[in-house]
Amino acid sequence: MKKVITYGTFDLLHHGHVSLLARAKALGDYLIVGVTSENYDRERGKLNVRNRLLDRVRDVQATGLADEIIIEEYEGQKIDDIQRHGVEIFAIGSDWTGKFDYLGEYCRVVYLERTRDISSTMIRDETCRVLSLGIIGSGRIAHRFIPESKYVSGVDVVGVYNPRLSSAGAFRDRHALRFATDRLDDLLARVDAVYIASPHPAHVAHARAALLAGKHVLCEKPLALTAAAVEELYALAGERGVVLLEAVKTAYCPGFKHLVSLLKSGAIGQVRDVSASFTKLVEGRPRELSPEQAGGSVTELGSYVLLPAIKLLGVNYLHTSFHACYDDAGVDLFTRGLLEYPTATASFKVGLGVKTEGSLVVSGTRGYAYVPAPWWKTEYFELRHEDLNDVKKYFYKFDGDGLRYELDEFLRLIHGGRLLHSYLFTPVESIAIARLIELFRAGEHTTRIH
Ligand code: CTP
Repeated sequence: MKKVITYGTFDLLHHGHVSLLARAKALGDYLIVGVTSENYDRERGKLNVRNRLLDRVRDVQATGLADEIIIEEYEGQKIDDIQRHGVEIFAIGSDWTGKFDYLGEYCRVVYLERTRDISSTMIRDETCRVLSLGIIGSGRIAHRFIPESKYVSGVDVVGVYNPRLSSAGAFRDRHALRFATDRLDDLLARVDAVYIASPHPAHVAHARAALLAGKHVLCEKPLALTAAAVEELYALAGERGVVLLEAVKTAYCPGFKHLVSLLKSGAIGQVRDVSASFTKLVEGRPRELSPEQAGGSVTELGSYVLLPAIKLLGVNYLHTSFHACYDDAGVDLFTRGLLEYPTATASFKVGLGVKTEGSLVVSGTRGYAYVPAPWWKTEYFELRHEDLNDVKKYFYKFDGDGLRYELDEFLRLIHGGRLLHSYLFTPVESIAIARLIELFRAGEHTTRIH
């Protein structure tokens, strides 16, 4: 029996796929089809797949062409599959010509002519109304957002708003956007959703205006500087039936997501302490150190370091205290914080003028999780135990600047049409973090260090 193998995502199965499968089958007597798993697709940066794995397998099965269907879960699996199944021919579409020549060591490699003018991407774009998105603000993070948005399908960044038209215009030209405007109502009238990347103190007014106009909002952190303002915004989003998501990128990346699930499942026993640090040295007088722009280590980095504490220990802490040192303008350059829970503690260090190891350590009754710097771009972590040899290592992808993950989640919520909130970072968690930032800024629980 001559076995043939082929692989693909087979999203929104189309006649190009069927033709490929038929020709692959005709090369031998037995066709094995490898369908990519969701994890594998996400790992290789393919974030736009619409159908779930089970549906894609069912669709391939329904063609009646596959004698066997397997799941492709990791890079390098093809070599294993070919040898394990005794495959004689590896067949794939001509868009991959040359890419799989290395498999020639194990079997014959055949590139089959790709069917013209059809692809899953085309169908996705045709069937799903592409969301037009406007950017509010044109600073550093907004620049980083544009290339990241190209990795997520179903969204088109069309315009930018900045009260200074020259800045908006320069941004539009640099990123080839359709329009730039210095009027917020103009931007809101021309988009379905906004990404807010304006200075911190402007977030609330911008988010409120967008929500009132019925637009979905993805807002940079901190969403607001008071818990009441954050509550008001989520309530407004609920009333208008639109999505409001705070862009704390770590919450949505694959590695951090899995870390939280593992630890919540008891992988290190009961969590007794969470300790996170994030510092970055900034030079001159950038936005991060500007009192007018609500600069400071806590407003800038607090959302990151508080995230693991709030996700793992919840929002019901009993006490909180902070120790901070300030510059002459009254901006905190370094802050150490402590949250006391009934059966656990959480501590953090954030700094803009002090540097320290940027790790995350979660201590439990049976072991601990160690996530090395930069833990907020979670690519790797270890679960360690009393026995030094008992170490489990976990590896993940964190592509680019990671903004693609929050945008992907934002679109998933919008297109899913059922949930307005992400379980990866809930309004309750977002409000709790805002409350802590507010408490710190009020100064009552803060000791000044000199
Ligand atoms: N294929 C083909 N003709 C097409 C589209 C796909 O022959 N018009 C082949 C691919 O070359 C591959 C298999 O079908 O061998 C599965 O491809 P897949 O990547 O799942 O399909 P695409 O439509 O190319 O998906 P996307 O647009 O998401 O890249």
